[in-house]
Amino acid sequence: MAQLRNAIVVSLFLTVTISIQASTSSEETQPHIKFLGRSLLESAKEPEFFEWLKGVRRRIHQYPELGFEEIKTNQLIRDELDSLGIRYVYPVAKTGVIATIGSGEKPIFSLRADMDALPLQEMVDWEYKSKVDGKMHACGHDAHVTMLLGAAKLLQNQKDELKGTVKLVFQPGEEGFAGASYLLKEGHLDNVEAIFGMHVDPHAPTGILGTKSGPVFAASQRFFATITGQGGHAASPHTTKDPILAVSFIIQSLQQLVSRETDPLESKVVSVAYVDGGTKAHNIIPSSVTFGGTLRSLTTEGLHQLSKRVQEVIEMQANVHRCTALVEFGERPYPTTVNSDDMYKHAKIVGEGLLGQDNVKAAPVIMGAEDFGFYSQRMPSAMFWIGIANETLGPSKSLHSPHFILDEHVLPIGAAMHAAVAISYINGHALSM
Ligand SMILES: *[C@@H]1O[C@H](CO)[C@@H](O)[C@H](O)[C@H]1NC(C)=O
Repeated sequence: MAQLRNAIVVSLFLTVTISIQASTSSEETQPHIKFLGRSLLESAKEPEFFEWLKGVRRRIHQYPELGFEEIKTNQLIRDELDSLGIRYVYPVAKTGVIATIGSGEKPIFSLRADMDALPLQEMVDWEYKSKVDGKMHACGHDAHVTMLLGAAKLLQNQKDELKGTVKLVFQPGEEGFAGASYLLKEGHLDNVEAIFGMHVDPHAPTGILGTKSGPVFAASQRFFATITGQGGHAASPHTTKDPILAVSFIIQSLQQLVSRETDPLESKVVSVAYVDGGTKAHNIIPSSVTFGGTLRSLTTEGLHQLSKRVQEVIEMQANVHRCTALVEFGERPYPTTVNSDDMYKHAKIVGEGLLGQDNVKAAPVIMGAEDFGFYSQRMPSAMFWIGIANETLGPSKSLHSPHFILDEHVLPIGAAMHAAVAISYINGHALSM
């Protein structure tokens, strides 16, 4: 914590404008961090900067790409980095990019944005609507990439004063592809001390930050099952082994894993999300039925335990009905995303300096999942929400809705927040070492 307090005292601007006074009082440190954040925000809000941000976001929005297919998107990122004179590594985790700004020395701090879109037809009628049928940025990753490019520009403007290194991670494949796990496996972040990321929040007004310490997103795992019996005439059920009846018992039994086997004070979810069987004929019992769904838990261990029981229940219930079961799980389950207390406090103080204390709110943990959890398993990390709702655009729509919209006024705020969190971290750390 001491190091983090120093980080706040020794802002970049402070070193050139005010004499440095090491202090541990948050009342004293607040003005300095405020000064850093607000100067960055002022720069990002300048008309030319804001227009550039909007242009970047709209180009990405028009050409959404799914996980590990982010070709146009990484080209756009590299073009912008080239014109800013920023070095980068490419490809990273197939289609990702990692840019580096600063002295090249420790401490090394990371900022992360995810790049991929969703398989969804955009239903919003506006000038920069998706030009790709069946694909849409309905989770705000276009804004995430833009805010990080904005931070790159702000950081590059001050590259000579950075007392450490910032790695900007443009990560592919967040939406179920576990892109973060590939990126970590390739070793790109091995010497990184801590990481920060943000996700847009359509339920909070533009620029309002939401956060908490501890778990913020659940661990998640997908499962798939095939139940095989013996098909036949529906009028002679005794000559068949009915997988439809077996599956209906299995689904009910699965619901007891949370209601009967889980401590009521813990949080877990078992949802069967699809069932596929039969041919819509009224007189045929099919020979097999498939179904699948998702498992959630606030602890990674809880998820393992739940997966084990799901497999047992499906297999045994299938046997009760004289059927067999094949149960499979996703290859890379997402771990819980946990905000470390130190990183949470650091980014919260930076956010309060930037936007005012009233604009950083407590957020609840949700059972949604984020592959940011892979980073949080490896190093101190914090993931914040940033609001994008603005009444003048009409009522906001949820993430993953084909009607999803966002207020572009968030772009300079997010860019400044990213940059301020990184600068205050590395400059503070460098000095306290
Ligand atoms: C909401 O949108 C209006 C119109 O574009 C803009 O003037 C206002 O600043 C926006 N609000 C915020 C909080 O950015």
